[in-house]
Amino acid sequence: MDSYFSELGGMVYDRWKKVDFSPEAFPEIATAVFVERPPADNVNLPELVREFLLEDAQPVQSTSGFGQPELIVYDTPRFYIQVLFWMEGTTDIHQHGFSGAFHVMEGSSLHSLFEFEDAESITSHFRVGNLKLKESHLLETGATMPIVSGSGCIHSLFHLDSPSVSIVIRTHSDPSCGPQFTYLPPHLAVDPVQNDGLTLRRKQLLDLLEQTGDPEYADLVIEMIRELDFERGFFILQNGIGHLRNLGVWAEAWEAFALKHGPLAEAVPPTLEEIIRRDGIAAMRGMIGDPDHRFFLALMLNVEDGESFLEMVGLRYGGAPVDMILQWAEELMQVTESGTWMIDAEFPDELGIVQDEQPEIFLEALRYFLNAENPPANISSGDLEVLRKAFERSSWRALIKP
Ligand SMILES: [Fe+2]
Repeated sequence: MDSYFSELGGMVYDRWKKVDFSPEAFPEIATAVFVERPPADNVNLPELVREFLLEDAQPVQSTSGFGQPELIVYDTPRFYIQVLFWMEGTTDIHQHGFSGAFHVMEGSSLHSLFEFEDAESITSHFRVGNLKLKESHLLETGATMPIVSGSGCIHSLFHLDSPSVSIVIRTHSDPSCGPQFTYLPPHLAVDPVQNDGLTLRRKQLLDLLEQTGDPEYADLVIEMIRELDFERGFFILQNGIGHLRNLGVWAEAWEAFALKHGPLAEAVPPTLEEIIRRDGIAAMRGMIGDPDHRFFLALMLNVEDGESFLEMVGLRYGGAPVDMILQWAEELMQVTESGTWMIDAEFPDELGIVQDEQPEIFLEALRYFLNAENPPANISSGDLEVLRKAFERSSWRALIKP
C-alpha cells in the first residue's frame, strides 16, 4: 500500500473521528487535507503505478466501471481513497450518492456546476425539471473541489488532457440522498443504476429488429409508445429516434407520445435534441487528439453563454479569443461528400455555392458573427441570414451574436 495515501487517509480518519464522523463535516475535512498535502505535489505517478503492479498488499479493489481504470489506494469501512485515470474527456452531468472531495493530480479539467429547478418526480427514478448551468471554470493541476451528496452539487467534468488523473476521498455511500441522478439537459434526470431489466431487454430486442431491417419495427415502437408510461416511453423514444427518423416515421411516433402524455411530453424534444448534439460532439472529441481542439470542443459541449466562452479561451491562451476560435474553426473544417462542416454546423446547400468556395465563405461569415463588425462585402445580406441560421442550429449558437 502506498505510504503517502496511508498517511493522507490517516489524517482524514483522525479529524473525522473527532467530530463523531459527522456526514456534514466530511467534505470540508477531505478538502482541507487535500489542500495541506496535495497529491499533485506528493505523488510520483510512475512509482505509484509500479507499486500497484508489483506489490500484492493492496486494499480490496472494486469491480466498478468508473474510471479508466479506478485504483483503490486506501480503504476503511467509513471512507476510501481512489485514483481515477481518464482517457476520454467527459463525464455525464451528475450528482453523487456519496460525499468527500476530489483533487486534480495530473492534467486539467473544465468543471461545470448546475441547478435543477422546478423538479417534479415522475417516479422515484425519473424527474422532470429545468437544468440551469450556474458556472463553468477551469480546474488546473493541483485544484481541489468538495463533493456534497445529493442535488445540491450537480456537476460535470471534461478532462482536457489524456490521461487525466484525479484523486477522490469519498464515503462509500450516503443512503439518505436518494438515487445518484444523471441529468439529461435541459429537462430530465434519470437514475443510471435503476434496475429495469425489462426495458433494457426491450431496447436490445428493438436494436436487433433495427439491425435485421424488420418491417414491423416502426409499428411495434409506435404501439409501445401508445401503451407505455412516461418514463419507459421516453427510453424507447430515446433508443429509437435515429432509426425512426431514418424510416421517416419520427413525426408519427412523436405524435403518439405527445397525445398520451400531454403537456409533460414537452420536456422531451429539446432533451432528445440535446442528447444528439452532445453525442455528436463527444464522438468528434473521441477522434481528436490535439489538446487545443479538445479544449474547444469541451467548451462547445458545456458552456452556454458567449461571454464565458470567450473569457475561458482568453484565460487559457491569452491574446484575442476570437482569433483563436477562428483559427480552430479553420483547422476543424471538414469538406466531405455530405457537405462542408464546421464542427456540427453544415454549410447551407440552398445558397448554391460551389464546394470549393464554401470554406472561405463559411469562415468569413463566422468572423462577422463573432465580431459583429462590418458585414463582408462579398456575401449578400440574405445569404448572411441563411448562414446565421446554420450556426444557430449548431453548437456555435453560444458564440453567435444576435
Ligand atoms: Fe462527480
